[in-house]
Amino acid sequence: MQLLKDRILTDGVVKEGNILKVDSFLNHQMDIDLINEVGKEFKKRFDHCPITKILTIEASGIGIACIAAQYFHVPVVFAKKAQSVNLDGAMYTTKVESFTHKKVYDVILSKKFLGPEDHVLLIDDFLANGCALLGLIDIVKKSGATLEGAGIVIEKGFQSGGQTIRDMGIHLESLAIIDSIADGKLAFRE
Ligand code: G4P
Ligand code: NA
Ligand code: NA
Repeated sequence: MQLLKDRILTDGVVKEGNILKVDSFLNHQMDIDLINEVGKEFKKRFDHCPITKILTIEASGIGIACIAAQYFHVPVVFAKKAQSVNLDGAMYTTKVESFTHKKVYDVILSKKFLGPEDHVLLIDDFLANGCALLGLIDIVKKSGATLEGAGIVIEKGFQSGGQTIRDMGIHLESLAIIDSIADGKLAFRE
């Protein structure tokens, strides 16, 4: 998505450890006009899919998912992150190990809001090692819902998440894929 790539080049800031800061337009301050275009693009790429629900994970995914949902006209449900709490049977739970943040946390979702009748589109801001997305995929599996695919705004193509998820046969659409960050310079995948 050219508009997004241009914006990353203009306003993205590369930090130590291959971290790309996009907090001026995507995941802290949010440029709603840009995210509207992101939502339209997700709709275009998953237009043939019978999606009934968009699933994301707190926190940064929520705003993006909500704007995208206006084009799909389906509810958004977001999984919550919890520090190993006592979970009762009314929740789907899965453990996520974040390499980025070096910690393990539970991802939880009420069983009320996802079931076998659902066709799910996953949406998130970043895909790096993919632990967060794999957690959501596990929750979809536990719910018996059909996974239609995953829409990611920025994929770090030099980390393993994208490959892992494509190898699972999942329809993954990343609107900008960064193949390398060398000397502070970004290279996008064509
Ligand atoms: P991981 O397995 O390495 O933990 O990677 P994963 O793809 O699950 O991403 C973990 C978290 O790190 C995600 O946020 C993701 O958005 C964020 N992240 C990874 N690489 C970058 C980057 O280069 N720039 C920015 N800005 N974020 C990055 P999260 O833990 O789900 O938290 P939240 O921000 O959504 O609350
Ligand atoms: Na995120
Ligand atoms: Na994030």
